[in-house]
This record gives sequence, structure tokens and C-alpha cells, in this order.
Amino acid sequence: MDNSNSNRESRRRRRIRCPGILALGILIAAGGRVSAAEDILTDFEGPDFGGWTVTGDAFGTAPATGALPDQAPVGGFRGRGFASSFHGRDKATGRLTSPEFTLNRRYLNFLIGGGEEVGATCVNVLVEGAVVRSATGREDEFLNTATFDLGEFAGKKARIEIVDAFTGSWGHINADHFVLSDTAAVPPFVQNPPPPPPFHDEALRPQFHFTAHSNWLNDPNGLIRAGGEYHLFFQHNPQGREWGNMTWGHATSPDLVRWKEGDPALLPDRHGTMFSGSVVVDTANTAGFQSGKDPALVAIYTAAGGTSRESEGQPFSQCLAYSNDQGHTWTKFEGNPVLKAVGDGDRDPKVFWHAPSALWVMPLYVGVPDPARKGRDGKPAVRNTCQFFTSPDLKSWTHTGTFAGEVYECPGLVELPVDGNSSRTRWVLWGADGAYWVGVFDGRNFVADAGPVTGDYGPHFYAAQAWDALPDRRVVLIGWMRGGVYPDMPFNQQMGFPMDLSLQSSTQGIRLVKWPVPEIRNLFASVLREDLPRPTPVGTNRLGGAIADTLDLEFEFQPGDAREVRLDLRGVPLGWDAASGNLRVLGKTIPSPVAPGSVGRRSDFPAPWGPDLVPWDRSVRWRILVDRTSLEIFVNGGTAVGSFCWIPREEPSLAVVVEGGTLARARLVRRTLKSAWRP
Ligand code: FRU
Repeated sequence: MDNSNSNRESRRRRRIRCPGILALGILIAAGGRVSAAEDILTDFEGPDFGGWTVTGDAFGTAPATGALPDQAPVGGFRGRGFASSFHGRDKATGRLTSPEFTLNRRYLNFLIGGGEEVGATCVNVLVEGAVVRSATGREDEFLNTATFDLGEFAGKKARIEIVDAFTGSWGHINADHFVLSDTAAVPPFVQNPPPPPPFHDEALRPQFHFTAHSNWLNDPNGLIRAGGEYHLFFQHNPQGREWGNMTWGHATSPDLVRWKEGDPALLPDRHGTMFSGSVVVDTANTAGFQSGKDPALVAIYTAAGGTSRESEGQPFSQCLAYSNDQGHTWTKFEGNPVLKAVGDGDRDPKVFWHAPSALWVMPLYVGVPDPARKGRDGKPAVRNTCQFFTSPDLKSWTHTGTFAGEVYECPGLVELPVDGNSSRTRWVLWGADGAYWVGVFDGRNFVADAGPVTGDYGPHFYAAQAWDALPDRRVVLIGWMRGGVYPDMPFNQQMGFPMDLSLQSSTQGIRLVKWPVPEIRNLFASVLREDLPRPTPVGTNRLGGAIADTLDLEFEFQPGDAREVRLDLRGVPLGWDAASGNLRVLGKTIPSPVAPGSVGRRSDFPAPWGPDLVPWDRSVRWRILVDRTSLEIFVNGGTAVGSFCWIPREEPSLAVVVEGGTLARARLVRRTLKSAWRP
């Protein structure tokens, strides 16, 4: 292409488009390449605010060039100056309003930092006097890239407002580098060198999924509530980013959502490294470990003999440790192991109290060599079983049964009401891959009347365990999102989001329903409800607004005549076709049939996050938890689930694509989430 001609032409056009605004029309030559056409509306590089109207005191009289007195370091702005409302600290208020300009390009890209107060520490775009887009900072002095898609207002007159109407903590806003562009911003812009990332804010750090501060993590272990907190122990390598040196890491939370990592709880010993297991509250002091007024917590775990030099030649065995300070420090039982090897690689005891028989029950993974079948190495193949043991005191265990189906690693067994009716319960048994059976448990063995049923249709769900001794019989499941990749991060691997479990009868039988715990609302930062045009036309229906990297998104549609419906979410197509009733995402298929309004459960959030959408009849409903490196998709109220790890393309797009006929109706709720790592 002839750059000089097109440069001249675009310069000429830009001058016409942006009267009254610093129209530094440019085609930035970056690294020898010419970037897409764009108009810089302002960069706040002058001695004052130019044509912008200033009200209040918060913005002072001129752009800031760095942190103001009492402000933490500010980074990420472009050039020397930026707009800061920290003059007069958090208390001061004010507003900067741009001259009017014409929306001749589709995107407004800019940099924003500071407070997160929706509508009060924000950047707004006004078209014909009405706010059509708004974005807040993220309680971070760093200015991050943001983009508004303004395509639907093409040709209209607009103004930008930078607002500080909030006087509490984080009552200020930073903004800079407003650019109209043909392309959405691809972060990062060329910026001032960014400051070191604040705690748990690295580029690929999940913001509302648990990760170890550093190094490797796998299975959740020892899930219990004690001392007013939820405890999450986890398989951890404190020495490296790869699996090894298995140790129990430990974190606590007031609400299953915000976690604080503490010291490792169980370290490798002469019996082996610390593989998966569970924790119980020994209310009746059956094991005799209690030393204070509160019941002891008892961990029942696998010591993986032979996985360390210290345990060379030892088999796998089941061991105990106890804590008399609500799980913060642990003592190994001197009589370990309490259950010697019964098969091949026995592991992952998940102990619970069985009230009808007044005994502890331990489902355990046991590999049973089967002489009738030869493995590839010529040795007998191993049959993967779940075996049951019971004990009055957690120390002596009796074998009571072996489940007839094949279960590999991390068995879980819980009792749940069917359709919310506590007088009609069923037991559910699952293995590490999440597949489950529904049936009956008599205190000795489990007998299935249905299953195995796929528990998760994604590639990244493994070794889930449940908080199964919570008040109100609430059962909360959390899985390890096995196999995500986190290049250059200090940590490796993440947990899934905790889910409430319930059983629901369906035409296919009783099914396990999973639904994100409602405590997720503790992280909600903003909510946006959108109804698409009715009917929704064939083609691409783009949705505007800034697309955050953390979202709790609900999408519902009645297909009408549409043959295919696709939600394009940050570069990931979620494609549904009417013929199969399936959802295809990242190479996997999740059943997603048109369902009656009665199927599945909906979340129940108070205002302003609710009231919830009452499901439409005969609709398809997806709830999608989007974090920086994961997507969890709950179909039709949680009757099918898919867990995916992925590294997003930095393309903050959101669109509904309709093919083959119009969509009867469709709607979307977008809730953005704050980081769970910030106080
Ligand atoms: C499942 C698993 C368990 C074992 C643990 C070791 O992911 O293999 O069977 O206890 O991980 O880290």
C-alpha cells in the first residue's frame, strides 16, 4: 500500500472529524509497522486541560505527572501527563468534560485507574446527553487499557466525562490517552514501565479462583468448616512449579470465595509424601485427640511410601494427624499408619460420619491386580476400585465392601435430597474424573441404580472433593482445574470455583446439579442487563461496554427459527446448534437442550445484583464464570457443566451471532467481579 498517500488522506479526514479536540491524527509507526488508523482525542500533555471543562476541585487545574501527595505510586499512563482526581485526596470531588466530538471510529480506547465505585469514580461516554458507556478503575493506581465499542452510535456527537463523585476510600480516578480507533485496544499499549504487580495481580493470575501463592497445586484436600472459617487444604509442592514433594498446603476463607494462604499443614515424613485425604471434626472425641474445649480436627491422608528417599521401600498407607487449634498446626499420630496397604497404590481416603450406624466411613481408592488381565508391561492389569472401611475411632478400620463399578482416584460419596425434599435422599459416588453414580449406601457398601454419568464435559475438571459436613446439609464441591498452563507465572494450576450440589429428577433419571456458590456476590462490582432486539436478527449482534477479564455472565435465548446461535466471548466461540441441542466450546461438546423453565436452579442475589431472571419457558440458559485463565459453563441451571482453562486472546469482544433464522428473544446479564485477593 502507498503509505504516504493514505497517511495524507487520513490526516485530512481526521482534521475534519475532530473539531475542538486535540486532533493529533497519526498512523503510529511502531517497530517498522504502521498501526491501524486512529485519532488521539487527548493525551493530557499540555499545561492545562485545554478545551475540557473542569468542575469541582478534585482534578486541580492541570494534568498530573505522577503520584500526588499521599498517593501510592501511579503507573501505566502515557507520556508525561494524565488526569488525576487526587488533588484534595479521596475527599475532593469534580468532573472533567471533553468538548463535543463526532464518533467516526468504532472504538474509544483509553487508560483508566483508581476507584471502583460504579457511576462515581468512572469514565463515561455521553451521546446526545445520555451516558451510554461507563467504566471504573479497579482499586489500583495503575492505568489499565479499556475499550468501548461505540459502533452503534456511528456518526453521532459525543462527549467524554471523567467523574469523581465519591468521597470514601478509593474516591479518585486516573485517566489518560483517549483514542478513537478502528480497532479495539490490544493491551498493553506502549506504556510507562509498569510498577511491580500488586499481590496476586500477575497477567495470568486467576482473580476469583484459588491458586497457591507460588508453586504447584493439585487436588483439594481436607475440606472442613472449623473456627468460623472454611478450610481448604491442597496437594502442593512448596519447592517447585511441577508436581512433587507432596505436602498439604492450607488456606482459609470466611466465605468460600476470598482465600488466605497459611503455612503448609502436613509435610512429608518417613511413611511417604502427603497424598490426598480428608479432615473431620471429631465432635465426640472418638479418637481421643482432643486436648482443649473444642473438638480436635483429624486428618486422614495417604502417606505415599516410596515417593521420597526417606520412605524408600515403603508401601502406600493411610495415616492420621490431628489439630487442636482449628486446623492451623498439626501433630502426626504416633501409631501411624492406621490402615496398611490392602491393594496397589491405595489412596485418597474421604472419611465422613455415618450417623445411622454411628461409625466413621472411609471410601478409598484401591488398585486391585487382576491376574486374568495382563497390562502392557506383562504384569497383571490393575482394576480400579472404590472400597469401603468403617471405624468407631478413626484408628482401627474394617473392610465392609467394594463398589461394583470402576472408580479411579479420589472417590467422593455424599447423601443429598432429591428435588429439595429432605425426606427423599439418594447417595452419589464419584471418581476423580467427575463421572458419578446415583444409588444407595447402607453404611457398608454403595449400590448404584444409575451411572456412570458424565460430571463435567470440559477437559479441566479433576479430583473434586466436597465440604459435606456443613450446616443445613449444604454440600459444596470444588475441583482441581487440571492441566491449565500459566507461562512465566510464579504459581502453577488453579482450583475450580466452589459449587453447591443438589439432585434433581429428570426424564433421564436423577441427575447431579452444580451451581456456583451464591457467595460469589461478595465480589460483584457492576451489573449490566441487556435485552437483545426481539426477534434477534441473523448476523452478528455486538454487545458494547467494556468487557472485563472477570465476569459472571448469564445468557438466555429462545431459539425461534435460528439454526445456530453463537456467543463470542473474549475470542472464544460458544456455538449452539438447534439440530443437536449441543453447545460446542474449545473443542468439546456439552449437551444444552431447550429446557422448560422449571429445569435447573437459578442464583438468588439481592438488589442491586438481582432479582434474578425468572427462566423463560423452552429456553437455553448458560451461566459462564470467566476468569483470567478459565471458563466454567453451567447449562440450564447447572444440569450440565464444562470446565475449561484457556489463555485469552487479548480481544475484549462480546457478540451474539445468529444464523439460519431469527432468534425469538435473547438476554444477557453481565456482572463484573473484583479480585478476591484484595482486602
Ligand atoms: C489425583 C492424585 C491422587 C493423589 C494425589 C497426589 O490427582 O493422583 O490420587 O493422592 O493426586 O498428588
